[in-house]
Amino acid sequence: MRQEVDFLVIGSGIAGLSYALKVAEQGKVFIITKSNEDESNTKYAQGGIAAVLYEGDTHQKHIADTLDAGAGICDENIVKIVVEEGTERVKELIDLGANFDKTPSGAFDLAKEGGHSEHRILHHKDITGREIERALLAKIRAHKNITVFDHYFAIDIITQHHLGKMVNSHTPDITCYGAYVLNTRNNKIETILAKTILMATGGAGHVYATTTNPVIATGDGIAMVYRAKGHVRDMEFMQFHPTSLYNPTENPSFLISEAVRGFGAVLRTIDGKEFMKKYDERESLAPRDIVARAIDTEMKLRGEDFVYLDCRHLSRKGFIEHFPTIYDKCMSLDIDPFKSLIPVVPAAHYLCGGIVVDDLGKTTIKNLYAVGECAGTGLHGANRLASNSLLEAVVFAHRAAESAIENAKQNEYNNAIPDWNAEGTETPEEMILITQSRREVQQIMSNYVGIVRSELRLKRAFDRLEILYNENEALYEKTIISPKLCELRNLICIGYLIIKHAMRRKESVGLHYMVKFGK
Ligand code: FAD
Ligand code: SIN
Repeated sequence: MRQEVDFLVIGSGIAGLSYALKVAEQGKVFIITKSNEDESNTKYAQGGIAAVLYEGDTHQKHIADTLDAGAGICDENIVKIVVEEGTERVKELIDLGANFDKTPSGAFDLAKEGGHSEHRILHHKDITGREIERALLAKIRAHKNITVFDHYFAIDIITQHHLGKMVNSHTPDITCYGAYVLNTRNNKIETILAKTILMATGGAGHVYATTTNPVIATGDGIAMVYRAKGHVRDMEFMQFHPTSLYNPTENPSFLISEAVRGFGAVLRTIDGKEFMKKYDERESLAPRDIVARAIDTEMKLRGEDFVYLDCRHLSRKGFIEHFPTIYDKCMSLDIDPFKSLIPVVPAAHYLCGGIVVDDLGKTTIKNLYAVGECAGTGLHGANRLASNSLLEAVVFAHRAAESAIENAKQNEYNNAIPDWNAEGTETPEEMILITQSRREVQQIMSNYVGIVRSELRLKRAFDRLEILYNENEALYEKTIISPKLCELRNLICIGYLIIKHAMRRKESVGLHYMVKFGK
């Protein structure tokens, strides 16, 4: 089946939905998304969205905090854009119907998180992302120009490569004409031709064994763009959230929001000792890279599997009001936060790098934009400041939409594009070939390319991954396409990119922390 549309959006998190609502004023929009329409990292965001919204705070302070967290390698122009335009974009979210908590006086109940010098996080209890996703989807469903195709899996974007032309990463005019997508309800691969395409496929937490990300986060968009010879950046900066709930049988890991530490919770080793003051004067509220590394160090020194988060001194009423979901989750595991300590452990959480884009969200491939966690704007540098990613997504969705509307006016569909060719492929005999390789990728990445790295570990990871790459490419060539097979291919690609960028960076900065072997 072939379809044509003005604007194709791949992904239905905050980035894809915000952009879709804006471009839909100027043409037809298809949103394709690989799971249920609301399934996304966005849906699980807890802490909130950072924005300068009260007089005591200034853009200058938010800019300084972002630059400080980013360890000196943020793109300062992008930081300025996101922080300054962010205030307006967050007001738009509110006008759209997203509810953020207020104090009895009617002012926003602004929270504080690690690395922020001010209270500036708007939140909806501890389910901010769910509320934003709800508000956006309500508008999307009501828009006559937008169609959502759920359970559609994007396999690859279409370029002149599919017309038999040679393309490499130096080709100046690589052009995107649409995407091949798998309807997972009937297993048919469709060709969608579009004038302008947005990649909004989110993060890649599942390249690691322990992650806070839902299962959709397999780095598909970044891998698709890399295969199409688009450029990617900063892939070595995978952010580990310091405090996911330690519950080894649960995958993904449940997040204990940083806002809980902002509310006064304190980290302790298993013997009850506070340890953060050894590492940073901001203690439990230092930026994430510092806290996650401190926890990792303590766990390794002591040979323990977790540390504790102590909430026992906090107001029960205030805690339950602010964090009802976290409270319920702990209670469901017989952990009463006011009597017991909460066991926590770092988990892969957010990919700071991604598809190279300019200040309008344009990738290095013509007609292709990227917004949200899959994009590498330069905002986060070597370490993202908490609650800056939802903000980045709305700011760049707006900028990309304005540019894409103009871009679409100048484009026609490329009808020479052939349909997907599945000749010579067969049903896989054994799914274990895919599931075991996925586990191996995750083990390699967690054990050798985690919070602390060394040249030897990176080399070892690279060599192991190469074996998996070769095996999987051979399998891919002869196997009927399935999401599991494509996700494995994408995860191997993401692992490769993280290692390659880490090897290139060599010295420690922000989230990329190197030790000499043996230290
Ligand atoms: P997502 O919301 O992840 O959406 C990606 C979409 O792409 C999904 O719909 C997915 O199904 C779809 N997709 C992916 N691959 C394909 C494919 N091959 N074909 C079709 N569709 C595809 N950030 C903050 O700023 N504040 C917070 O408080 C916060 N808390 C967080 C808590 C948790 C537990 C997690 C996991 C993240 C949190 N983050 C937070 C990070 C933030 O939620 C994400 O960075 C952000 O929501 C990403 O939005 P997105 O639209 O780019 O991607
Ligand atoms: C959290 O609530 O701790 C997550 C915030 C974020 O990832 O920005």
